[in-house]
Amino acid sequence: MSRIAYVDGVYRPHSEAAVHIEDRGYQFADGVYEVIAVRSGELVDEAPHLTRLRRSLAELRIEGALADAPLKVVIREVVRRNAVVNGIVYLQVTRGAAPRDHGFPKVARPTLVVTARRSRAPDPRIVEEGVSVITIPDIRWQRCDIKTVSLTANVLGKQQAREAGAYEAWMVDAEGRVTEGTSTNAWIVTADNLVVTHAADHAILNGVTRQALIAVIRREGYGFAERPFTVAEAKAAREAFLTSTTADLMPVVAIDGQPVANGVPGLLSQKLRADYLARIAASA
Ligand code: PDD
Repeated sequence: MSRIAYVDGVYRPHSEAAVHIEDRGYQFADGVYEVIAVRSGELVDEAPHLTRLRRSLAELRIEGALADAPLKVVIREVVRRNAVVNGIVYLQVTRGAAPRDHGFPKVARPTLVVTARRSRAPDPRIVEEGVSVITIPDIRWQRCDIKTVSLTANVLGKQQAREAGAYEAWMVDAEGRVTEGTSTNAWIVTADNLVVTHAADHAILNGVTRQALIAVIRREGYGFAERPFTVAEAKAAREAFLTSTTADLMPVVAIDGQPVANGVPGLLSQKLRADYLARIAASA
């Protein structure tokens, strides 16, 4: 079955779908995106993803994007046409196509692309073993809360992780504190069983998985703090893990080649992962 993409009002074969060469997403990374998981045919946390999309658009002052109601119809149609039962939907909205000029164009209509693809949930063997991360300087701009398609630093960081044989790179600010991963949020569990992740300020993307997991943590009554943690603190932690739409909750068992605790996935991480997945299954 060939894939179908939605580009600006038209459903086209994926291989033929294209945007204008002067699209501002292409020239300036002047656009935003979302990745939504599809599990057992259901969109996972569509509402918070669309809320974050609206926020990103507002922060970049991109006006005139398709409203939520018709956008939801497009998302469902793309999922249906690609027969995605388990996979992801990718949405991208840019400021549109216009002759190249840094300032906003006087006339431009946002370009909307929606694609979907099948993919498996994270490999259970990887989850069982846990993954390793490296730490790298966070060289990104000061508005990482906006989910823009400007991902150069993230791309370089992920590649550095891969070349080091690691799953992810945790980015570290000038004060030595971990902000987040290149495409995931970063978490630790301290010696006194406090679950810690960076606060949702301008330094990180407020992950939808992060938000859902915080709700689970609060519901289950675990100790929780939204604050930065240092690399040293992470290396001395009882447990560590990362979260994202595509990774769910993935235990981290080594940081910069040093095992976290005894180097196997932590019990609380495993429990939180099970609770998070149960929540998805219950809402499907
Ligand atoms: N990445 N931090 C960054 C920098 C991210 O790019 C992402 C998501 C997250 C986790 O957010 P969420 O839980 O909403 O997926 C945190 C997506 C999956 C991507 O770029 O493919």
